[in-house]
This record gives sequence, C-alpha cells and structure tokens, in this order.
Amino acid sequence: MKAKEYQRLLQDLSNLVDEAIHVVDAKGKSIIYNEGMASLEKINREEVLGKPFREVFSNIPDSESTLHQALRENKAIINKQQTYLNKYGKEITALSSTVPVEVDGEVIAAIEISKDITEIKSMSDTILKLRKETIAPQKTKKLEIKRYSFHNLIGENRRFKEVVDLAQRAARTNASVFIYGETGTGKELFAQSIHFAGERQDKPFLAQNCAALPESLLEGILFGTEKGGFTGAVDRAGLFEQASGGTLLLDEISAMPYELQSKLLRVLQEDYIRRVGGNRDIPIDVRIIATVNEPPEVLVEKGALRKDLYYRLSIVNIVIPPLRERLDDIPLLVENFLEKHNRKYGKEVWMLSDGALKKLKNHTYPGNIRELENIIMSAVSLADKEHVLTENQIRVQEAYREKSQDLGYDPSEESLDEYLHRCEEQILRTAMAEHDGNVSRAAKQLGLKRQTLQHKLRKFDL
Ligand SMILES: Nc1ncnc2c1ncn2[C@@H]1O[C@H](COP(=O)(O)OP(=O)(O)OP(=O)(O)O)[C@@H](O)[C@H]1O
Ligand SMILES: [Mg+2]
Repeated sequence: MKAKEYQRLLQDLSNLVDEAIHVVDAKGKSIIYNEGMASLEKINREEVLGKPFREVFSNIPDSESTLHQALRENKAIINKQQTYLNKYGKEITALSSTVPVEVDGEVIAAIEISKDITEIKSMSDTILKLRKETIAPQKTKKLEIKRYSFHNLIGENRRFKEVVDLAQRAARTNASVFIYGETGTGKELFAQSIHFAGERQDKPFLAQNCAALPESLLEGILFGTEKGGFTGAVDRAGLFEQASGGTLLLDEISAMPYELQSKLLRVLQEDYIRRVGGNRDIPIDVRIIATVNEPPEVLVEKGALRKDLYYRLSIVNIVIPPLRERLDDIPLLVENFLEKHNRKYGKEVWMLSDGALKKLKNHTYPGNIRELENIIMSAVSLADKEHVLTENQIRVQEAYREKSQDLGYDPSEESLDEYLHRCEEQILRTAMAEHDGNVSRAAKQLGLKRQTLQHKLRKFDL
C-alpha cells in the first residue's frame, strides 16, 4: 500500500472511533485530526490538518503542550487532565494520553487520544462551590447541616455501648478513625459525634462519598486544582484545604481508585498536599475518618482497599454491630423514633402493641437502623388518633425483604393477585409517607408518571 493510501486508511479509521485523536509527524505537522477531536476542540478539521500544531494552538505554551513533550522529549504522558481554551476562547477539559512513536531510535510522530470531560469538570466545580457555600453558614453557627452528637446514638446493648465508649475515647484524640458498619448502622452518626465532641468541633466537618464520583474527579475534589500554565483552568482549594483544622469523612473509601489510595497515604504520612496541576506543597491539618460497609479484611483481600492505607487509618478501629445482632435495642429505638416522628407529624402514638414489637423483633433488617426508623416513621405518619400501634400498622418494607430474597409470600394464605395487590399498596403507602404526601416526588422515586401514581392512589383509596 502506498503511503498516501495508508494515511487515508488511518484517517478513515480514526473517524470511526469515539475517542478524539490527533497525530503529528516529526515536524509537528498535524497528519491525523479526527471528527472526535474536532468536536472536542470546536475547530474545523481543515484548520488543523496539514498545519504545524504550534501555529494552530499558539495559546498553549510549549511547556504545557503534551504533544510537544511527546515529540521533543520522547515522553509518554498518560491520563492527564488538561483544561485549556480553544481557538475561540471556549474552555475545554479533557483527559488525554499522549505517546511518542519511535522508529529506529527516532521519534517520527506523536499520538494524542483524548476524552472530553468538560461536563464532568463543570460538575465537579459546582460540587466544590456548593460545598463552600454549605461550609460558610457552619462557621457562623447558623443554619447548620444535620449535626449529630453522642446523645443521638441510641442503644443499651452491651456490645454497642462498648463501641460508643471507644468512639468517645477517640473523640478526645486526633487519631484517624476507621469505621466499618453495614449500611444504615450509623457510621455518619458516629463520625459526626466524634468530630463534634472533640477539640475540632468549631472547625469544619466535611464528608465525601468516594463511590459517588468518577475517579478523574475525586482527586481534584480532595486535593484541589491549580491553574499551572493552562489558560482557563481555575485555582481551587480541595476538601483537604477546606476542612483545615477540622475533620474529613471519607465514606466508602474502598471505592477510591487504588492509585489515589496510595496518594492519600503519602499525604497522610507527609502532612502536606499538592493541588492537581500545581507544584506548591501546602501543609494540611485534617483529621480523617474513613468508612466502609464491608469487612475491611475482605476488602483488602479483594484488592479494593490498600492494606497499608487501612493500617494507617485504623488507629482507632470501630466496628458497629448490625441491628440484627442487637435486637434487644429495638424497644428503646422504637420509643425514640415514636417521639421524634410524633413531633414531626403532630401525632400522639405512645407505644407499640406486644404483637407489633414481636413482629419488629422477627425481622432481620438488611437496612439496619435506617430501615427500622423508616418503618416507624411510615406507621406514625399514617396513624390517626390512636395511641397504640398494632401489628397490622407495622409494615416491614417489601423492598428490603426482596433484597434478602425472602418475599414473604405464602400461597396457602392468599392468592398471588392478592399478594401483589398488598405489596403494591404497601410500597405506595411507604413512598407517600417518605415524601410527606407529595405525589410528584413519590412518583419520581417510584419511576411512575404523576398521573399514574394518582390513579393508583385512588384505586387503593390512599
Ligand atoms: N444508634 C442510633 N440511634 C439512633 N439513630 C440511629 C442510630 N444509628 C443510626 N441511626 C439513624 O439511622 C439512619 C442511618 O444512619 P447513618 O446515615 O449514620 O448510617 P450509615 O452507616 O452512614 O449508612 P450508609 O452506609 O448507608 O451511609 C440515620 O437516620 C440515623 O439517624
Ligand atoms: Mg453514611
């Protein structure tokens, strides 16, 4: 095949893939510039193809140009996040890998493959901005986000009290804390209690769920970003700086990419951070509380959690027992939740019948305390003027049962139609209670059209 045909083939091929591709020859002339790259950089392909890229992208200095580095320094740069302005001044954020192509010891071309993450970047900027706004009121001690302390931790169970005792002792220190507990066992409650009982209580408490963000973002959120040489990129403090003097809760730390886990470990050992794209060392003073909802040993075994990071963080190791292992606390928890939701809904439910309590004690609670609270909340919100809730008014959530693979269907008791009818009614009731009777929001949660839900509510006479 002739060289010209080859180039045509590569050009056509490059237009068939989703990634943005830019290839320059040894002289820096653009020989491939595909549709994907043109749409990412908002430039017509004709304006780039066949021209020296230094001319077209004259606003990017050589020191910041990954293509330049690959070509002139024979250096591969993998997964680098870049923010820059295109020819028309539009800010673009891309994740790119750039590699030199070497033949007989000479660099004959450089290939850059990029993914447009402008949207993701602006999402992360918004998150950081919103966080800043939520920290501000905390400083003025008004309008705080939910703030928990040890007296909110209800429970008399012996093992549970030992755990609370350990957490109280931890609050008096500055040591990192590692909390393991299934979902809904109160990890956030423990973390906040530790923060607000210690000497950092007047400083920020910030939380970040490591599973909630794409990995390319998490690093910038935690450590911040720096303009560096890029035009258009912003200087922004990350959570480590924003939480200065306070506590940073890293939820589901095992969801953090492995590489970032080692970076975090280094930060914790050296007590300073470097913003993404920056080169200043910024000293930090942040207490870390990390949580997981699977046993840490299992996570280490699976390769989801770095062993060295786990050891560094688990100076205080808190294991919260699941509710099914402290069923003796149910009456006390119920009492508290009744009081709380009576107040909220203006009801006067004083207690549960023996049958109702027994029903609650027979459940296994995959959703733990959050699930128990939802059951009580829903029953209270639906109560009329009665002071005692009976067995029928306590509805164990089907959604939770389903997860535990026990649908609780007994064909000798009812037909399938009756059972499904009852399930549907229960789910609707719970959804309506959870959303304080707001049809639109309940419909959204259930994935139904508003009208459909309204129709169903009429059908069930709810
Ligand atoms: N010991 C407790 N006493 C009273 N309420 C509790 C207790 N533990 C948890 N709760 C309540 O249960 C709910 C869930 O608690 P929390 O958000 O702390 O759980 P979590 O372990 O962080 O769950 P997830 O893993 O899903 O994030 C909250 O509404 C909290 O108020
Ligand atoms: Mg939580």
